[in-house]
Amino acid sequence: MPKSSVDLPYVAKNVGPTSRETCGSCHFYGGGGDQIKHADLGSELMYPSKNCDIHMGGYDFSCTECHQATNHKIPGRSSSVAPSEGAKRCVDCHTNEPHYGDDLLDHHLNEHCEHINCNTCHSPVYAKCKPTKTWWDWSQAGNKNREVKKNEHGKPKYHWKKGVFEWKKFAKPDFAWYNGYMERILAGDKVDLEGKVVDPDNPKNVKQNGEYINLTKPVGSKKNPESKITPFKLMRGVQGADPVNNLVLVPHLFPYGKDDKTAYWKNLDWNKAFAEGMEAMDLPYSGEYVWVRTNMYWRIEHEVLPEDKALNCRQCHESLRGEKTCGRCHQKSRSKDFAELMDKKSNWENMQGLGWDVQKLKNSTDYLNFEELGYEGDPIIHGGRFKKMPMGKSE
Ligand code: HEC
Ligand code: HEC
Ligand code: HEC
Ligand code: HEC
Ligand code: HEC
Ligand code: HEC
Repeated sequence: MPKSSVDLPYVAKNVGPTSRETCGSCHFYGGGGDQIKHADLGSELMYPSKNCDIHMGGYDFSCTECHQATNHKIPGRSSSVAPSEGAKRCVDCHTNEPHYGDDLLDHHLNEHCEHINCNTCHSPVYAKCKPTKTWWDWSQAGNKNREVKKNEHGKPKYHWKKGVFEWKKFAKPDFAWYNGYMERILAGDKVDLEGKVVDPDNPKNVKQNGEYINLTKPVGSKKNPESKITPFKLMRGVQGADPVNNLVLVPHLFPYGKDDKTAYWKNLDWNKAFAEGMEAMDLPYSGEYVWVRTNMYWRIEHEVLPEDKALNCRQCHESLRGEKTCGRCHQKSRSKDFAELMDKKSNWENMQGLGWDVQKLKNSTDYLNFEELGYEGDPIIHGGRFKKMPMGKSE
């Protein structure tokens, strides 16, 4: 309930349409600051350029143009919380055959939509307009004397309240098969800590045997026709867990007031902060804590680029390099230059012209790691997941 000091009649008289600003007053600042949690939602979306988000910048969409609510139910599945108010998909507006006209690429692009999520090609880098956090190590918090260095984007790498951070901008997403559903670990769910506890002296040690606890993880597989190759930002970090009860711990951070004796940001005592946090959640705490590695998958949904910056064919298909191009399968056409056709999109020079650091992606042909996604290699040579074109490996 609102505080008694809130003037409700004043509020009622000021109800108005929603806007990017009203929705954004919460969603731009998830995770404690601008664009920290969602790689694709930040305050620059209040007045974005078209290169930052084609819908909200180029076409001035409000959030509710896509998230059109009925009786205050806002459709759009969240990566973190269980879906409750319906889904929203690109194809709701663009149809299953979004590429139209008489462009020679349209046929294959539309076929790809059965296997590849739109944003794999239409948002090939995330955090385009502002850096987002990708690593957050709580175990190192508490040192008020530690020097705070900034990274290349001017973002702090440390805060005594929160620990060590890493930030990314113009980053290449991670890709996974995704069928529209996520597995989630919610507060109170038992977790397996085996192999996930970090070396306190070197929490970032990636060589250490061990895995991440996936607080969220996409469901899907190459064999499932509903699943598509989908882009994600991975948010990795180190947080507290109770090794006796096998629970991820919820700390009490903000002091209740001047006399608070348990808040971490006042007393810098994790044990007290975890005891109070877990009690407030009505969950048990053994009094013992360890630091574990956690991981969250956040889907890339916004910041769609203009069509002239979509990935081109060669960015994924090594087999279309060189002279062969479309001619591998099609008769050479005198009226069309296939090579030019394939290169005309994903204009990395243009992106560099905008000041984006995408040099390392520019000439790569392995945008997707086909082996990691379950293919033998480039599907043009080795075949797609359900069918194989009549092309031998001898090619
Ligand atoms: C007062 C804060 C606040 C405002 C304002 C707000 N939201 Fe949310 N919204 C949340 C929280 C908290 C969640 C759940 C956690 C999450 O997914 O980040 C959520 C979840 C969502 C979800 C996904 C989950 C679902 O079940 O629907 C969508 C989509 C969404 N909001 C869109 C909007 C839009 C569009 C607006 C403006 C019309 C808006 N929100 C305004 C706080 C807010
Ligand atoms: C061009 C259409 C479009 C616009 C404009 C748009 N969204 Fe979305 N949004 C989507 C789609 C598509 C999804 C994925 C929903 C799903 O899978 O069901 C999504 C997902 C979300 C989610 C869930 C994210 C997650 O992974 O947890 C939130 C929150 C959200 N949008 C908020 C907003 C806010 C706030 C705005 C305005 C600043 C906005 N959206 C504008 C299309 C849009
Ligand atoms: C394999 C990569 C890829 C995938 C997957 C993909 N697109 Fe595209 N898309 C492109 C390219 C490249 C262009 C530019 C095509 C051109 O100009 O001939 C484009 C153009 C478009 C256009 C502009 C209209 C047009 O026909 O040129 C729209 C709208 C669009 N895509 C929407 C979508 C939607 C929605 C999805 C998902 C259902 C999607 N795309 C999936 C690569 C892709
Ligand atoms: C509420 C309807 C709606 C949703 C949802 C939506 N779009 Fe669009 N989109 C449009 C409209 C309208 C245009 C502008 C007219 C056109 O090009 O069709 C557009 C334009 C585009 C373009 C062409 C941009 C250019 O350069 O002019 C691309 C690419 C695109 N959308 C991709 C997507 C992707 C990817 C998603 C999902 C993340 C999505 N759209 C979700 C309505 C939508
Ligand atoms: C984002 C990476 C990506 C881009 C960009 C891309 N492809 Fe593909 N392509 C794939 C994947 C993945 C498959 C396999 C789909 C499946 O499992 O059936 C595939 C399959 C194919 C196949 C069919 C192979 C078979 O045996 O089924 C052809 C042909 C093809 N791509 C041509 C193109 C052309 C032409 C373009 C540019 C218009 C293009 N691709 C752009 C990833 C990509
Ligand atoms: C790996 C073989 C392969 C490659 C490479 C390939 N295609 Fe195709 N293409 C096919 C096949 C097979 C079909 C027949 C329909 C189907 O199964 O997709 C087809 C169909 C088409 C069609 C629709 C033809 C019609 O009759 O409707 C067009 C247009 C097309 N391709 C253009 C291209 C262009 C342009 C390129 C290069 C950018 C390309 N293809 C690369 C195998 C290929």
